[in-house]
Amino acid sequence: MNYKHIGGMEVSQFAIGTWHLPPSDKRYPDGILYVDVEKTEKIFKKAMDLGINFFDTANTYHGTISETHLHPEKSGNAEIILGNYLKDYNRESFVLATKVRAEVAVFHNGGGLSRKHISWQIRESLSRLRTDYVDLYQIHWQDPYTSGRETMDILNDLVHRGLVHYIGTSNHPPSSTKEMMNVAEKRGWENFVTMQESYNLIERDFEKEKASIAKEKSLTLLAYVPLAEGILSGKYSNGIMPGTRGSYTEGFKESVDKSKNQVNRFLEISKELDVKPTQLALAWILKMQEKLGINIIPILGATSVNHLEENIQSQDVKISDSTLRDLNTLAKI
Ligand SMILES: NC(=O)c1ccc[n+]([C@@H]2O[C@H](COP(=O)([O-])OP(=O)(O)OC[C@H]3O[C@@H](n4cnc5c(N)ncnc54)[C@H](OP(=O)(O)O)[C@@H]3O)[C@@H](O)[C@H]2O)c1
Repeated sequence: MNYKHIGGMEVSQFAIGTWHLPPSDKRYPDGILYVDVEKTEKIFKKAMDLGINFFDTANTYHGTISETHLHPEKSGNAEIILGNYLKDYNRESFVLATKVRAEVAVFHNGGGLSRKHISWQIRESLSRLRTDYVDLYQIHWQDPYTSGRETMDILNDLVHRGLVHYIGTSNHPPSSTKEMMNVAEKRGWENFVTMQESYNLIERDFEKEKASIAKEKSLTLLAYVPLAEGILSGKYSNGIMPGTRGSYTEGFKESVDKSKNQVNRFLEISKELDVKPTQLALAWILKMQEKLGINIIPILGATSVNHLEENIQSQDVKISDSTLRDLNTLAKI
């Protein structure tokens, strides 16, 4: 496993995500699937055995629902499962990232990036994660009602109160990221060290405007959905199989259909090179670090230990200049 730095903190080249955890067969009365905790813990253990020391979660993740903020009573389940697993490890031996912003309660101030909501949610996350601090606290997406100044002020406080070590942004428009960073810079406050954005071979919007900010401000990109939620593995080529994320996620078929031509071409390239599609897709992300001049940590999602074993081997896949050119034609930027 290779390691990178976020601020001065050392993290593995891959993080492990908790948005979707292995589903069990059991359902809540509203039809939502339970998480298979035993299987999840095996994946976490395998991740650590493979040298991954970096875990990403969010106050809203349940573990088997995409739009968790629509089910406030299920928010935080992934943090509980992760905290319960990690309690047996030395707290200093791993790096923990979580997020705040989503609606987690139906009353006023049940979501957002206000001083009030963040002050509440950091306590909730720490309690669910069974820890005194999180290493990286990220603002999940924009809150149009709270000023950047208010949010940066409370984040700065959290760092100085020792509840948070570093702060990061996610899914914010470039103008808002710049504005918030300028406020913090001017006041000598703690500032973002990471940007968590959607980034993969067929979804490269990050490169339009955000990559230049990341480079200028030395932000590490935490690349989410690096396999386009599994679509780049090629497993949806013959339809949506039971047990896959596509089988229980609303609107998934539309994403598969929309990317069909790109994925077919990608699968041809991976076949010609005799490299597994998952490994090629991740190796491409790692390669883009050189081109974009930034550090990139793909956040891996996995529902089996085999996925992890397969995916981290992407570190050993070398991408030639001509392969890079071919892969770069798959998506318009
Ligand atoms: N900041 C944000 O707004 C945001 C948004 C989304 C995600 N995230 C973060 O990014 C993390 C990763 O996202 P993601 O889970 O969508 O990542 P992904 O790597 O694009 O998709 C992971 C899914 O692909 C399938 N898969 C993985 N490896 C495979 C393999 N070798 N062979 C076949 N299928 C494979 C599995 O799905 P099956 O269930 O089908 O097995 C797995 O759950 C999340 O957990 C979360 O921490 C952040």
